Amino acid sequence: MSTSEVEQLTARIAEVASHALRDATTMPPDVYTSESLLALELQRIFAAEWICVGRVEEISDSGDYFTIDVAGEPLIVVRSGGQVRVFPNVCRHKWGRLAEGSGNVGRIVCPYHAWTYSLDGELIRTRYMDGAEGFCPADHNLPEVRSAVWAGFIYVNLDDAAPPLEQCRAELQGRIGNYHMEDMRRICGAEEIWSTNWKLLVENFTDFYHVFHTHRDTIDRYTPTEMIDLQDGGAGYSFGTARVIKDAMPESPFEPHHPDLDASQREAFAMIGVFPAQMLALAPDRVFYMCLEPLGVDKVRTKWGVACYDHDIDAETANGIEALYQQLNGEDRPRVEGIQKGVRSRFAGQGRLSAYENMNWEFTRYLSRRLSG
Ligand code: FES
Ligand SMILES: [Fe+2]
Repeated sequence: MSTSEVEQLTARIAEVASHALRDATTMPPDVYTSESLLALELQRIFAAEWICVGRVEEISDSGDYFTIDVAGEPLIVVRSGGQVRVFPNVCRHKWGRLAEGSGNVGRIVCPYHAWTYSLDGELIRTRYMDGAEGFCPADHNLPEVRSAVWAGFIYVNLDDAAPPLEQCRAELQGRIGNYHMEDMRRICGAEEIWSTNWKLLVENFTDFYHVFHTHRDTIDRYTPTEMIDLQDGGAGYSFGTARVIKDAMPESPFEPHHPDLDASQREAFAMIGVFPAQMLALAPDRVFYMCLEPLGVDKVRTKWGVACYDHDIDAETANGIEALYQQLNGEDRPRVEGIQKGVRSRFAGQGRLSAYENMNWEFTRYLSRRLSG
């Protein structure tokens, strides 16, 4: 697709975004299949915004690390003492891949020629470099990538000019800070690759409209559409809440929770799209989250998990919670993967939105702001 076609697509997104919710439509289907638009999204969104890469509990001890890609950049996220640090997963010698998966290390040793870095990225050992005239290890430390923690989530930003995370999350923090997600602990989760465009997965997670039918055997039983409170989002996020019928919930609901929650928060879920690619289903006692990494126009890695207040949760309860979210994902996944096939159809047009898709409409407006101009 040529530059002018990307311009055409962003213009069409802007056109959709210009409508009020009452006469809003979906974005054009090509938005989910265009390689050039994905390249623009990686550049203007994933390489420029704060991207969630996981929870701090994943690296609770010094030396704990995991690897992840952001906007195609391979990274290592590591705990060095009390600090979370993020480095390129690329050796300063000859681009060796420094680490795989997750684990615990005392130092970072390149598997190729064993250049060795401290957990702070300092090059502390090299072998057989005596003949390299003027070689100074300090000139070859790993550069640190910007990272910050909000509410127990780790974020990375590849853009040194981007505003601080704290500033970007300030408004949302004012709205949900009293849930104290930083006090929750991750109890389960997984990484999966779904065959769909990343935007369809954001839209699915924050779509109140699909709950009554897609999840008719699960969450609709205790969060019927009539109990959803549509709300406006704000700077960098979409937001809505759904009150629950506690008696219809499968487990002892919403306990334990933080005493700072107000009465309405204790009786409801909050659904939040933290733009661009993190989603939260926030209950009084837990958060179900997803962080996305686009792998192609029709492939996305989702890193999902559940974090709870109950730090001493027993294995059986944790397994039950994991099974519930596996079930919900199992209800969503074939549908969003099916949509990815649908957007390629010659018959695919732009559908009208229900008012219950307001968070999708806000996402379109966010995309338009980031991609236009
Ligand atoms: S590439 Fe890492 S030590 Fe050579
Ligand atoms: Fe769903």
